[in-house]
Amino acid sequence: MNYEYIITQKEGNIEIITLNRPKALNALCGDLMKELACALNGAENDDNIGCIILTGSEKAFAAGADISEMAPKSFMDVYQEDFITTDWEDVTKCRKPVIAAVSGYALGGGCELAMMCDFILASDTAKFGQPEITIGTIPGAGGTQRLTRLIGKSKAMEMCLTGRMMDADEAERSGLVSRIIESDKFMDEVKKTASKIASMSKPIAMMAKESVNKAYETTLKEGLSFERRLFHASFATEDQKEGMQAFTEKREAKFKDK
Ligand code: CAA
Repeated sequence: MNYEYIITQKEGNIEIITLNRPKALNALCGDLMKELACALNGAENDDNIGCIILTGSEKAFAAGADISEMAPKSFMDVYQEDFITTDWEDVTKCRKPVIAAVSGYALGGGCELAMMCDFILASDTAKFGQPEITIGTIPGAGGTQRLTRLIGKSKAMEMCLTGRMMDADEAERSGLVSRIIESDKFMDEVKKTASKIASMSKPIAMMAKESVNKAYETTLKEGLSFERRLFHASFATEDQKEGMQAFTEKREAKFKDK
């Protein structure tokens, strides 16, 4: 499919989706979000793909929702079209692992989109922020919720109330990003991480993802019970048999996604 605002690329069993609206620093307009939802759906349904990378340009992952597009909207417009809920949250519906690879600005909806992914790898140039308050609104795609869960109330509150940006070091220290990578080897390293994930058993990777995500939505007791059931269920897969047998035979496992 031909897209206007994104580029999709398959490399082996990883899919790279690149936000590509350079003139507006990848501002997330409605058509871009529709294209992104469609591309994510395509990668989800491609049996060969084991990991998805969502990235932007060196200057910007995304500078937020498109302010020019949002500015004239009324309450009725945003309420009736269910702005944000439609198309924006498709990344959270992916069962396959999705890595956000952030260089440059990840602001407002850009930071929120990165946080919807499973984890964030940041280039040393990355800058994160929730500047919505500076344009008279508040984060609307999870900024007050996901950022608070990731970095704690005090820092999230400061970010949302001042609109200040956080550099990559602070983001890593605070737990927003899993790792910082030097900008000159950024995408190579991101792809290595994605390929590593894609080399695992796909259903087992899905179970691991589902179980980690459960930690955000339930009590510890229920979460542990959920994990235990999935752990037990993994013993019904051929890949668990193969993985453990390969270990004892001191060879690489050959997973069949079964
Ligand atoms: N929406 C629409 N256009 C945007 C944009 C956005 N969020 N961010 C940048 N652009 C456009 C600029 O208007 C400019 O276009 P023109 O060349 O046509 O004037 C172009 O991208 C380049 O931007 P700048 O000239 O501003 O570049 P800069 O390097 O001087 O500054 C920046 C970079 C600090 C990121 C600045 O562009 C900026 O502050 N952008 C807005 C960030 C923001 O407020 N994001 C939150 C949006 S609200 C939101 O996301 C709601 C939500 O929670 C869902």
